[in-house]
Amino acid sequence: MFTATAPGKVILVGEHAVVYGRPAIAAPVWQTLATATVRPAAPGAGCSIFARDIDLHLRLNEAAAEEPLAVVTRLALAQLGINQEPDWQIDLRSDIPIASGMGSGAALSTALVRAIFGQCGVVVDAATVSALVYESERFYHGAPSGIDNTVVAYGQPIWFVTGQPPEPFAALAPLLLAIADTGIRSPTKETVGYVRRAWQQDPNRYEAIFDEIAAVVKAARRAMEHGDRAALGKQFDANQMLLESLGVSSAPLRKLLAGARAAGALGAKLSGGGRGGNMIALVQEDTVNAVQDALAAAGARRVIVTQLGG
Ligand code: MEV
Repeated sequence: MFTATAPGKVILVGEHAVVYGRPAIAAPVWQTLATATVRPAAPGAGCSIFARDIDLHLRLNEAAAEEPLAVVTRLALAQLGINQEPDWQIDLRSDIPIASGMGSGAALSTALVRAIFGQCGVVVDAATVSALVYESERFYHGAPSGIDNTVVAYGQPIWFVTGQPPEPFAALAPLLLAIADTGIRSPTKETVGYVRRAWQQDPNRYEAIFDEIAAVVKAARRAMEHGDRAALGKQFDANQMLLESLGVSSAPLRKLLAGARAAGALGAKLSGGGRGGNMIALVQEDTVNAVQDALAAAGARRVIVTQLGG
């Protein structure tokens, strides 16, 4: 038997523009996890995958060709040179909110790949896990940038540009983030598709917004490298305004953002695909409790506080 885990994630700055070749910064969220356990099953039983949280039970030999968890299982077995279906029962658990911008699909697939390699006694590096998970992410997301599978597989904050190796990236001073869930599911595939259609209709306008987002991401990196939390908070706010102009914000997100700012957050923005899902607020030790309370009062389903770097 072998059990492996993978974290959720947040995009700190740069979502959507990252699909168009601009940089973005993302970080793992270890307070919320996906777990995969591979157990030997009776000889001849074949391979079954149970994911109770999403009400899924698959038999590998019957699963549709584009079913992401089956795709990633088949890819991992092929990479290991296993041609015959193993007799395994695989259990997947996750407390990462689904379709909420926290990388739940990438985390389930990452835990699954690690558990499969672990069950075979093979050590696997983050780049291999990330590449295998990217293949399955294409089914969740349509045309993903690759940032979700990368940050979840590497398990550390990264500077990411599609097609380039990720740069693990440390903030000089510890950063406290409050992450709040609107409770509204919003599949990334839909918001990415919405932005793509808008970009196709008015490429000049959207390219200009993506360039502005890239400038925000660079400024955010400088702020993190200098340990300047106030400057980073300003970049969160600037990024949020640009996400508003992309059309991926919403009234429930704006309510959470306003609540966090009024309670003393240094900056706040949606995180991930937008429309619903999660927002992030940059907080300090002396404001974290007030911001948490304000987010709950503004309707947050769940608030997670996580610390990055330091
Ligand atoms: C999703 O976490 C981030 C998006 O930029 C999509 C992607 O990069 O594939 C919205």
